Amino acid sequence: MSADILDGRAVAAAVESELRARVARLASAPRLAVVQVGDDPASTSYIRAKSRAAERVGIKLAHHHLPAGTSLAKLEALVEQLNSSEHGLIVQLPLPDRLEPALVRIAPERDVDGFHPVNLGKLLRGEPALRPCTPAGIMELLERSGHSPAGKHAVIVGRSNIVGKPLAVMLTQANATVTVCHTATAELAHHTRQAELLIVAAGQPDTVAPEMVRPGATVVDVGVNRTAAGFVGDCAPGVAEVAGALTPVPGGVGPMTVAMLMANTVAAAQD
Ligand code: GUN
Repeated sequence: MSADILDGRAVAAAVESELRARVARLASAPRLAVVQVGDDPASTSYIRAKSRAAERVGIKLAHHHLPAGTSLAKLEALVEQLNSSEHGLIVQLPLPDRLEPALVRIAPERDVDGFHPVNLGKLLRGEPALRPCTPAGIMELLERSGHSPAGKHAVIVGRSNIVGKPLAVMLTQANATVTVCHTATAELAHHTRQAELLIVAAGQPDTVAPEMVRPGATVVDVGVNRTAAGFVGDCAPGVAEVAGALTPVPGGVGPMTVAMLMANTVAAAQD
């Protein structure tokens, strides 16, 4: 038996259509600025996907493309300027280490990526805040496709600030019981086999093999790995034969991340 597919494209389209209706009722279009430093090809393709989504929803997206050698002072000045002129502002990652200090200059109420320490702190405290888009998108996909995490044992593989850690908080608040595994976890398979809900955000193909999955589990594959055979997730192909439900790569979590960025931008424009 093959797993049910959790269709992120279809759910993201539903989210976008609700957002389009909200935007149509606003006096003016929400504005989102995307700052890119350098020419990372993955960043360029993510920004293209964000531009297309913004156009569908009715958000005005401005792409600010700076050369790789941009100084910290210059990036900080641009961030300060966009804090005043835009509703939402993101600086596309990865960013050279020397430019990282610019990220905390993003005003928390403009931080539609949800990465600012103020927004992460509010998330931890259960207060309303702009939430990181990938974990928020995973929660939305699960709820809207009838796989509520409430009461489930959820196992997350990966402890990044962008996915694993904030997702652990969101799942806990949604009444799941959460285990977080990472590169120093002994006996990874022992933990993953207990998961009713397994979220794999390790950034490595074949992190989870079929025998590491509890039969019938809901599996969310967050990986986007470029290989000679095209894009693959973090789960081995055979996982689809064991899981009860599975997000495809591409077409699972990716479109939900973009939809949540649009949702955060509309929320930032309405506040
Ligand atoms: N790089 C990869 N994903 C993301 C994201 O969600 N936001 C930003 N700013 N950079 C990214």
